Amino acid sequence: MRKPIIAGNWKLNKMVNGAMELVDELKPLIAGAENVEVVVCPTFTALYAVNMSIVDSSIMLGAQDCYWKESGAYTGEVSVPMLQDIGCKYVIVGHSERRQFFGETDETVNNKVKAVLQNGLNPIMCVGESLEQRKSGTTDDVIVSQVEKGLDGLSTQDAVAVVIAYEPIWAIGTGETCDAGEANRVCGLIRSTVAAHFGQDVADAVRIQYGGSVTPDTVDDLMSRSDIDGALVGGASLVAEKFARIVNFKR
Ligand code: PGA
Repeated sequence: MRKPIIAGNWKLNKMVNGAMELVDELKPLIAGAENVEVVVCPTFTALYAVNMSIVDSSIMLGAQDCYWKESGAYTGEVSVPMLQDIGCKYVIVGHSERRQFFGETDETVNNKVKAVLQNGLNPIMCVGESLEQRKSGTTDDVIVSQVEKGLDGLSTQDAVAVVIAYEPIWAIGTGETCDAGEANRVCGLIRSTVAAHFGQDVADAVRIQYGGSVTPDTVDDLMSRSDIDGALVGGASLVAEKFARIVNFKR
């Protein structure tokens, strides 16, 4: 059985104090959620403080990005060992906003996925089609290609540690959640792509999230689907009650 994983992507939001307040509010609200992994991904500047605030809880810490080199003359970058040093267990890699605004490519995503795994952390690798791609009927090709290139060169042991987030770009921050049946179909396609390259055992074990306007109203239907093992949540993860309801989803 795959353990569900709900991750909050806080994006470029929250000062240190606000970040600590948010996890403090969240902790009692999700105290009963035992069979689900909960990850919060604050900005780099709040990671250390949030890690201090979650020590007495089962919440895990994730970063929103990383660089693949360990150290050196790379001004402005943050390495995976540095993230590990301050308590991160997960790193979001290849979010569409990074692909769109910061020049992330399938190749840099692959480099980052490998660096995260080499340091014993788990990548949450994002894939997803644009509205244009969906309208032109190329969704499946785009998704298969992003998954293949992002996971290129991984061992089966490494592949199983990757969480893949299917995030249709047109559903991110728009309030327009992808239909649960369609989201499940694409997550199934991702799973069969993993099976083709790494075998059925890896595909059966790998966790696939849906992301894109997940709310308390849409989470139960999504999480009831066979190939959806979790959610990557943006806007709703900034409100403790909403994120808690998502963590406490009902199947
Ligand atoms: P959203 O963001 O929930 O605000 O749509 C999801 C994401 O970008 O991970």
